[in-house]
Amino acid sequence: MRILLLVHAFNSLSQRLFVELRQAGHEISIEFDINDAVTEEAVRLFQPELILAPFLKRAIPESVWRRYCCLVVHPGIPGDRGPSALDWAILNQESHWGVTVLQANEIMDGGDIWASADFPMREATKASLYRHEVTEAAVGAVLQAVSRYASGDYRPIPMIQANTDHRGCERPMMRQRDRRINWDKDDTQTVLRKIRSADGAPGVLDEIAGRECYLYDAHPESTLTGFPGSLIARSEAAICRATTDGAVWIGHLCDRASEHPFKLPATRVLGDSVSFLPEVEGYQPIRYEERGPVGHLHFDFYNGAMSTEQCRGLLAAYRQALKRPTRVIVLQGGVDFWSNGMHLNIIEAADSTADESWANINAIDDLAQAIIETDSHLTVAALHGNAGAGGVFLARAADFVWAREGVILNPHYKDMGNLHGSEFWSYLLPRHAGEEGARSIMQTRLPMGIGEALTAGLVDERITGHFDAYYQRLDVKSQALAASGDFHEQLERKRWRRQVDEKSKSIQEYREEELARMYQNFYGFDPSYHVARYNFVYKVPKSRTPLTLAQHRRAS
Ligand code: COA
Repeated sequence: MRILLLVHAFNSLSQRLFVELRQAGHEISIEFDINDAVTEEAVRLFQPELILAPFLKRAIPESVWRRYCCLVVHPGIPGDRGPSALDWAILNQESHWGVTVLQANEIMDGGDIWASADFPMREATKASLYRHEVTEAAVGAVLQAVSRYASGDYRPIPMIQANTDHRGCERPMMRQRDRRINWDKDDTQTVLRKIRSADGAPGVLDEIAGRECYLYDAHPESTLTGFPGSLIARSEAAICRATTDGAVWIGHLCDRASEHPFKLPATRVLGDSVSFLPEVEGYQPIRYEERGPVGHLHFDFYNGAMSTEQCRGLLAAYRQALKRPTRVIVLQGGVDFWSNGMHLNIIEAADSTADESWANINAIDDLAQAIIETDSHLTVAALHGNAGAGGVFLARAADFVWAREGVILNPHYKDMGNLHGSEFWSYLLPRHAGEEGARSIMQTRLPMGIGEALTAGLVDERITGHFDAYYQRLDVKSQALAASGDFHEQLERKRWRRQVDEKSKSIQEYREEELARMYQNFYGFDPSYHVARYNFVYKVPKSRTPLTLAQHRRAS
């Protein structure tokens, strides 16, 4: 079928549906919901058989839903309505929640139901639930709805009939007052729940050290306590604040009234006002654990963004791991993201954005180079979460890339103001994808599912399952790799290969060539990268759909 994806932004769920629907043989084009006239034009140009709206913030124009079947993905159980579905599900401590695919009509979220799916809730941020549970459930429900529509004889169920759960009702937009933290009364679990219900957006508004800030990236502290509400410690970028029965770590803040009104590490936002706090170990995005001959390096950086400092910390941890008498190192990244490359927010907040970009790319390259040059261990990049831009090529620096089924990769840089990119992609990509494949990946600028990534050579093996099931399989696979009968031959082959590659063109040469182009992106007179980064960090809405996505506009 010809399916038009109508989206507020091409977010993770829309990307995953794009990949799944294409894989199922459908022809997909994408249009950003900019205004009614633009949507009507897109429909006229593409002539879709079906319109799918996985992520919209406005109603679909009546002129469109009256003429076309428009399926809306709502992150709530049948009968649930309103723009804060997941926020309420978290705050109300639902044990199970769901996704509903309904047909757009004059009542927002009130149309007939084509399919639904449910899932158990997890103690996690709203964004994490959205990227995992909601996305998996939505894929199942959308594929079912699309095949029901294609069959031509399925009659969707009116909302009034489908709503058999007493929890299915209309709920208002959640306001700050609904989740404001009362530090005198709230225990750790309540504080975590409130912050998680608003993380990634809009954040819980609070007052810290005399400043109004939105809070994100909250984690429980296991031992520290203090007077409820007081700041009691700091750990790397995070601050620790006491609750009535313990304390929480808060890793990121946004002070909208400041010079940099976007998410930044908490200690950076608060500066001198928290320098008196004792530094302890508590908030640890970088964590190493060992299971027999396998070392696991976790780096759960918020939003997968890797600053200069974080890259240096990770490189130091990686070098430590190499000193251990293990055989395999598994680079695990984080639960939600493996890596999204340079930390664009920290760059945006720097005194010199060019200098910070330069330092950041050099720090990532140092890490990638150390991985490529490792000759004492076999290395695995294991992706439970998505990866984008430099993060994809950083993963490819490892000997093996294993990815969870369902992971989405964005292996391209060009959307960030025509950034040339580094992380040794010009060495790694032709090696794994071939010259032609490398060119095609960099030019296509589309998200890629695991099936395609396997064919393209970006991923070597898929791991099925989610969370515990995934981690168990990863454990078994990495132990098997360490125990493989030809482990030493594999290591020897890898050393030999590196020597051969080095003779034909040194790793230093690749690095210098890529960085020379990046230098132009950062310091040259074309400001495209700086403009694109500013727009990304400040979340400036797109004024048109890129032609890479809007196939119907390309054709016309
Ligand atoms: N630096 C800082 N923040 C980043 C980031 C980065 N490199 N990559 C993603 N984020 C943040 C986003 O701003 C967003 O923040 P929010 O919590 O305030 O909403 C969050 O991570 C999720 O990103 P989002 O873009 O909503 O996720 P997505 O799944 O729709 O798209 C990407 C994923 C990777 C395609 C997209 O985030 C992206 O293009 N990132 C930039 C990649 C890049 O160019 N890196 C620099 C070159 S190496």
